[in-house]
Amino acid sequence: MRKFNVAVVGATGAVGEQLLSILAQRDFPVDRIHALASSRSAGRKVGFAGEEIEVGDLAEFDFSNTQIGLFSAGAGISKEYAPKAAAQGCVVVDNTSQFRYEDDIPLVVPEANAGQIADYTSRGIIANPNCSTIQMVVALKPIHDAVGIERVNVATYQAVSGTGKEAIDELDQQTRNIIDGSSVNCEVYPKQIAFNALPHIDVFMDNGYTKEEMKMVWETRKILGDDSIQVNPTTVRIPVVNGHSEAVHLELKAPLSAEQAKQLLAGAPGIQVMDDRKDGGYPTAVTEGDGTDAVYVGRIREDISHPRGLNLWVVSDNLRKGAALNSIQIAEILVREYI
Ligand code: A2P
Repeated sequence: MRKFNVAVVGATGAVGEQLLSILAQRDFPVDRIHALASSRSAGRKVGFAGEEIEVGDLAEFDFSNTQIGLFSAGAGISKEYAPKAAAQGCVVVDNTSQFRYEDDIPLVVPEANAGQIADYTSRGIIANPNCSTIQMVVALKPIHDAVGIERVNVATYQAVSGTGKEAIDELDQQTRNIIDGSSVNCEVYPKQIAFNALPHIDVFMDNGYTKEEMKMVWETRKILGDDSIQVNPTTVRIPVVNGHSEAVHLELKAPLSAEQAKQLLAGAPGIQVMDDRKDGGYPTAVTEGDGTDAVYVGRIREDISHPRGLNLWVVSDNLRKGAALNSIQIAEILVREYI
């Protein structure tokens, strides 16, 4: 079996750790692995497949003997280094927002548009979508194929791990401070995140939506290949460490019963339906999402206020399916079918 040299960029971060762990877990055909981060971390050790490997400095790395680059070190880093890596012959799967909206860069969720991976040849870069979009699109795809989706109203309940390691520490620290009765320090988030909900993810845009909300609009259309889909999101950060949840309200082109939707979703790739109409018969971020691979769908019901409405509750691990796992699924298809 052919093996590949793989670089993980941002290897010391929350997503980077998951990339290394999932590569090993899924037995990705790795020949040499390179863990890269900033010069601050160069020389540190990170774990890969039961071994300790040394972190290298991205700024000094030559990609010419590396076939796959998994980038998750922020948009600015990807802007500078992904084109350099691609020019050296490395195919980049980029987990940042840097290239997602460029026409000649494919934006891929394998369950929805794996065929787009073929277009990696134009720039040598494939974009991995935003975490909240990925899990929603996995659930929307079979419904869109069956009856067509006109409009999506969605409210997200997003974990702090999506912001990165410093945010996980801030939630931890604030929670301890509050329990101890001491004062709370806000550095990563503009308001207290512990025991709170912040209707604000990423920067504010001119239209009053946040960038995280607009990512859900732009990316859903690009991935499903349908610019007519209307998306109206509100994205909210909540004090969950890992695992995003979403209340998704669909307006369909033709009616679909809850039972029909349940069957469609149950037969679709990547989805686990968990929908018992009783106490605890639904997925949650902590009990199902965190540490697992599926997109869980529950609370499937017809909208009592709309003749073609359907409601879903969608849960997934934002660091895995929302980031690292999706990137690695793309890389698996790349090495199996294209390079
Ligand atoms: P470092 O630890 O050296 O700062 P998170 O989103 O969890 O905070 O992780 C961000 C990741 O991006 C880390 O691995 C971080 O490495 C990496 N990173 C940040 N700035 C740079 C840079 N200038 N060059 C390479 N990697 C960087």
